[in-house]
Amino acid sequence: MARKQRVTAVDVGATKICCIIADASARGDLEIIGMGVSPNGGMRRGVVVDVDEVTQAIRSAVGEAEGQAGVSVSRCFVNLSGDFLGGDSSRGSVAIGANNRVINEHDVQRVIENARMVGVPDGRRMLHVIPKGFTVNEVSGIKNPVGLSAMQLMVDAHIITGSVSPLQNLQNCMEMAELEPEENSGLVVSGVATSLGVLQDEEKDLGVALVDIGGGTTDLAVFKEGHLRHTDVLCVGGTLVTYDVATALRVPLQEAERLVIQEGLSFKQEMAARRAAGEEVEAADMEREIEVTSLSSVQPQPVKVSELSEIIDLRLMDVFEWLRVSFDRLGKMGTRPASIVLTGGVAEMKGVAWAAEQALGYPVRIARPESVRGLPSHLRNPAYSASVGLLIYGLGVLKGKTPVARSSSVNKALQGFITWLKEYVF
Ligand SMILES: Nc1ncnc2c1ncn2[C@@H]1O[C@H](COP(=O)(O)OP(=O)(O)OP(=O)(O)O)[C@@H](O)[C@H]1O
Ligand SMILES: [Mg+2]
Repeated sequence: MARKQRVTAVDVGATKICCIIADASARGDLEIIGMGVSPNGGMRRGVVVDVDEVTQAIRSAVGEAEGQAGVSVSRCFVNLSGDFLGGDSSRGSVAIGANNRVINEHDVQRVIENARMVGVPDGRRMLHVIPKGFTVNEVSGIKNPVGLSAMQLMVDAHIITGSVSPLQNLQNCMEMAELEPEENSGLVVSGVATSLGVLQDEEKDLGVALVDIGGGTTDLAVFKEGHLRHTDVLCVGGTLVTYDVATALRVPLQEAERLVIQEGLSFKQEMAARRAAGEEVEAADMEREIEVTSLSSVQPQPVKVSELSEIIDLRLMDVFEWLRVSFDRLGKMGTRPASIVLTGGVAEMKGVAWAAEQALGYPVRIARPESVRGLPSHLRNPAYSASVGLLIYGLGVLKGKTPVARSSSVNKALQGFITWLKEYVF
């Protein structure tokens, strides 16, 4: 019987670390055998600021997953987010032959390797080289050049690099937790991983902006014509929303988190819907109050829901404004997305899709990871999109090293991705 392949994903987030261990059959079925989640307070702006806390959180999440699975793991795929990452464009070019020769897979790898050679500045490390399109005989935008005759092959690629120090700090924490990233391919940019958990092929073809609003960061990955075109990270997330609520209303953080989860932007959405329906919104509606545990009084204090909604809205507007500027810039380069897919813990917020639609004027879909069969229900939550995407990425890399049976029952998107990954992602 064919051996199972083990994949371990460690999603290092600003609020939680999630470890998933899965076995993949030769047919490509993923079976989750263990999972662990641990709170993490040792990161700021996507980088480690407290080595002990992050190490402990990794140990705890991985230990829990190992205990459940009854196995021990030493290598894993880990995701990266933060403004120490940078996306850029690169171009590679190789000669095929003076007399026109048929391009083969080796040529494709050579040209990508050439694109990878662009100078990585001191203090940075290349993480991904992802083709946006090939040029053959001066025809650009070719998805797969294999089989075409040419004298020269060129590629336009999206490259992602990261500063060495934050990468090293994260690796040190992993090492102390007796874990290592998979060789060459174990460090995965969050947006790249998350897209595998939640995006549909058609969305990627038409143009889509994947926005993962987590606790500490918002990760943006834009796809068009099936290819990843742009990645970026904003160091704003749900933790800041919670802090804003806590400081403005003078309530403990835990209470602020409860209020954000309970109410979110539902009040603002409801008022807008009533106005749109021609209904008179009375002053009394705006005065609706809820009771909160205050820092300044032992008695529960009343707070207007309209006030809470405004505080949350103000911070989310930072994210939406950043997206608007990004989309305008992308529009000038012909890569404006057609829709937004929102995920990450904040995507669970009541009214957030409505607010994003209002602010940006794009259709918005809330995404949760659903592409893996047999996924436990608690993982089908936007907060776990990156964790599940990372697992799929890991499977793709590992399967890319061994032939995947034709009869694979892994979903179509994953099968296509494995081919893409095997050849193109370095
Ligand atoms: N129902 C909800 N309504 C509003 N906010 C929510 C809800 N559920 C979770 N959140 C927020 O989501 C955030 C956590 O999201 P997530 O788990 O995706 O973050 P993370 O992966 O730990 O962090 P990051 O990806 O930024 O490194 C928290 O700030 C939390 O307040
Ligand atoms: Mg996250």
